[in-house]
Amino acid sequence: MSQPTIESILQEKRLFHPHSDFSQSAHISSLEDYQRIYEEAKADPQAFWAKLAETELDWFAPWDKVLDWQAPFAKWFVNGKINISYNCLDRHLNNWRKNKAALIWEGEPGDSRTLTYSQLYREVCQFANVLKQLGVKKGDRVGIYMPMIPEAAIAMLACARIGAPHSVVFGGFSAEALRDRLNDAAAKVVVTADGGWRKDAIVPLKEQVDKALADDAVPSVTDVLVVQRTKQKISMSVGRDHWWHDLQQGVSAHCPAEPMDSEDMLFVLYTSGSTGKPKGVVHTTGGYNLYSHITTKWIFDLKDTDVYWCTADVGWITGHSYIVYGPLSNGATTVMYEGAPRASNLGCFWDVIEKYGVNIFYTAPTAIRAFIKMGEHHPKSRNLSSLRLLGTVGEPINPEAWMWYHKIIGGERCPIVDTWWQTETGGIMITPLPGAIATKPGSATKPFPGIIADVVDLEGNTVPENEGGYLAIRHPWPGMMRTVYGDPERFRRTYWEHIPPQNGNYTYFAGDGARKDEDGYFWVMGRVDDVLNVSGHRLGTMEVESALVSHPAVAEAAVVGKPDDLKGEEVVAFVTLEGSFQPSEELSKELKKHVVSEIGAIARPGEIRFTDALPKTRSGKIMRRLLRNLAAGQEVSGDTSTLEDRSVLDKLREGA
Ligand code: WTA
Repeated sequence: MSQPTIESILQEKRLFHPHSDFSQSAHISSLEDYQRIYEEAKADPQAFWAKLAETELDWFAPWDKVLDWQAPFAKWFVNGKINISYNCLDRHLNNWRKNKAALIWEGEPGDSRTLTYSQLYREVCQFANVLKQLGVKKGDRVGIYMPMIPEAAIAMLACARIGAPHSVVFGGFSAEALRDRLNDAAAKVVVTADGGWRKDAIVPLKEQVDKALADDAVPSVTDVLVVQRTKQKISMSVGRDHWWHDLQQGVSAHCPAEPMDSEDMLFVLYTSGSTGKPKGVVHTTGGYNLYSHITTKWIFDLKDTDVYWCTADVGWITGHSYIVYGPLSNGATTVMYEGAPRASNLGCFWDVIEKYGVNIFYTAPTAIRAFIKMGEHHPKSRNLSSLRLLGTVGEPINPEAWMWYHKIIGGERCPIVDTWWQTETGGIMITPLPGAIATKPGSATKPFPGIIADVVDLEGNTVPENEGGYLAIRHPWPGMMRTVYGDPERFRRTYWEHIPPQNGNYTYFAGDGARKDEDGYFWVMGRVDDVLNVSGHRLGTMEVESALVSHPAVAEAAVVGKPDDLKGEEVVAFVTLEGSFQPSEELSKELKKHVVSEIGAIARPGEIRFTDALPKTRSGKIMRRLLRNLAAGQEVSGDTSTLEDRSVLDKLREGA
């Protein structure tokens, strides 16, 4: 099975119309509806968003201006007062949803737990009070490094409740990566667990936290809260570490939601970019609440009777917007799963669907490709008839995988929403609305109402139909990131200056290549910068390079992506060694291990290639393009005239 190429997707002509019974009951039920709403929003974006903010959310105090756009810095619902935890919890308690399942949790090995809205409310309030007792105040940052257990969502909502921005760090990141993120955010408290279950083994989270904080390496952290999950022995540092269940004893289950300014920071989430240091993407309260709410409602066509499951981890933006905030703000039932397909149960995802009668299922193409490989007898031996809508996110989906998903999982009756978006955008930007827009396998189709998406050249001009260009957004939207934490200039540089502003009109540069076809459908082709997409996870090439050169044996490193059937891309590292070190299988293993300990298992290079020198231009820039060709086993294409020393290339070829 191959990754989508320009040629393959240009030939993709299949069109799947929504079934009429699906459309009839959908929130947006026809193409005409979509077009009308889209045009309305385009003509007067502020009126469009204001009306939704009024009807869909509860506010403590109204805003006095919808949008304040000091490009590229946006403020939405200026001076409005709101709390997203209130919108996710309190407002569902004075109606029948009070006893509805808010969170259904399926844990490994065989644990499960369901929290109703009123139970979740009480847990969140209690934990908010615990944080307050530890001295956490509005504005203080809280690090969350957790397995996929209800307490992860509870901690996020508790932070939001008292106005302490959270910074969730994916539990697969190493102690080193955790330390950097906690330091950048200057977190006061860290919430973690003794361990988490991953593929029949324990991930020692608390041990990683101890390593990250050792030698006072994160001076801002005063306290660590530990959920008991796996019960293995861990060390607790007196004065600093506390068991969650100890501190929760006797604490009040009521805690008023702090009225937050619409523009108060809700969270910071680190993501990879083209430079070595991950950036803290900042999202604020009001705009993010509205955007995650309305995209969840319309794109997943959420109904009160639905059981909705997004398989992401809360450590990523997808978990923030589409496991926690979006679904709960809508009063939905959201499923959270701690496990992952593993040798002892390759059909575990389908078991979860059958067990809870999941209606809406949202996952990543890399997972779908893995399922294809595992064989269709796994899904076919489970009852998946409850499903009515499927979604994908994280990377382009190849048409073969799309068709398999459609046939084998969706039984040819479920629409598929292929959703394009980013950590930075806060929510889904380009996607079918499932009752309205016919789908084409491999295309994310059309922009969400209120989103002015385009494919442009580097001057910002729209490129002709079916020609490749850069994916760009023309107008601010409520869910957009506000800044890079602590570095507004980096925000401007990274996203708003690749395409020079024209007459004061700023264009958001997404970092993806794309094309728009004759029907106005978007086909996203993948990153055009030095960002890799490994199994749907974002990884900066520079991040991996910095990890490699921090090893004493490595002089220089250049990292590129190599197309991979399963992961989308695999990390290939070209490495030159310091003086006395010699290439060996041992050293290659050691370097891979080193990257895992510096960043985490998601960054493990698939291949290390030792070389005497790296191909560079005369001005000393590594020519990654050539390395990408070499890694993929292709002929080196394009211009090589700027190469400083041609023999380097020849040697690399021979080496391969
Ligand atoms: C890629 C994940 C094609 C893209 C929500 C983007 C996609 C990056 C799609 C963001 C899709 C995400 N089709 N590519 N449907 N969805 N991407 O920040 O390259 O982890 O820029 O956010 O994933 O990754 P991030």
